[in-house]
Amino acid sequence: MSSGVRTEPLPGDPPVSIPGGPYSVIVLLRGYSVPQGAGGAQRADGSVTLVLPTAWKPWGARGEDPAVPDTQAALEQAGSGPVLVDTGGPWARDALLAALAAHGVAPDSVTLVVGTHGHSDHVGSLGLFPRAALLVSHDFCLPGGLYLAHGLSETRPLRLGPGLEVWATPGHAGRGDVSVAVAGTALGTVVVAGDVFEREHDGNTWWQLSEDPVAQERSRQRVLAAADVVVPGHGGPFRVLKEPVADSVY
Ligand SMILES: [Fe+2]
Repeated sequence: MSSGVRTEPLPGDPPVSIPGGPYSVIVLLRGYSVPQGAGGAQRADGSVTLVLPTAWKPWGARGEDPAVPDTQAALEQAGSGPVLVDTGGPWARDALLAALAAHGVAPDSVTLVVGTHGHSDHVGSLGLFPRAALLVSHDFCLPGGLYLAHGLSETRPLRLGPGLEVWATPGHAGRGDVSVAVAGTALGTVVVAGDVFEREHDGNTWWQLSEDPVAQERSRQRVLAAADVVVPGHGGPFRVLKEPVADSVY
């Protein structure tokens, strides 16, 4: 395991704001997963995180989308405004809208929604964002359904802007999981990792939910090596401290 890495919770209740430049990261809704009864049922919802460009003005006018841009231009345009990473399930619709409004973000102002993977508790409210570009797993499309090829792989991230990238972090839902990495915040690099991590201290539970545990372990190590803060799919954000320790505790 990753000796030399320990973690600790990031204090505070949602929304947890991590200021930065050129982007701030705001955990709007904290994911959870709670056992229900004795039959293995879980009541769950995914974390919802907003990546907000420092220069973006609340309620500002949104530019028009070009007809058919090249992929890199389209990615950077998509990353130029509020970026939502996962939406939670459809049952969280009202909470999501209220959390966005509290930060001055109207649904039509969101320029990109990243779905870390296609499970219903992570992408259940895509329908609130018909004017946003969508990157769900490895499918990137512009409003109206224009799908663009991009070449994302584990060795080739997608650049959305300075210090803002999408990484291929396969394992949990197969080959298509993605994470969003935001460099330059007050706490360093934040990685919004979907269900690469269920939560801090997810111990042996993550692999029971994994379609490809070997790939997911590789993704987990990559995220831990790069991140100062991880936003997991079903728990609060946690810091990653690269201090020498005897045992890994993540
Ligand atoms: Fe999932």
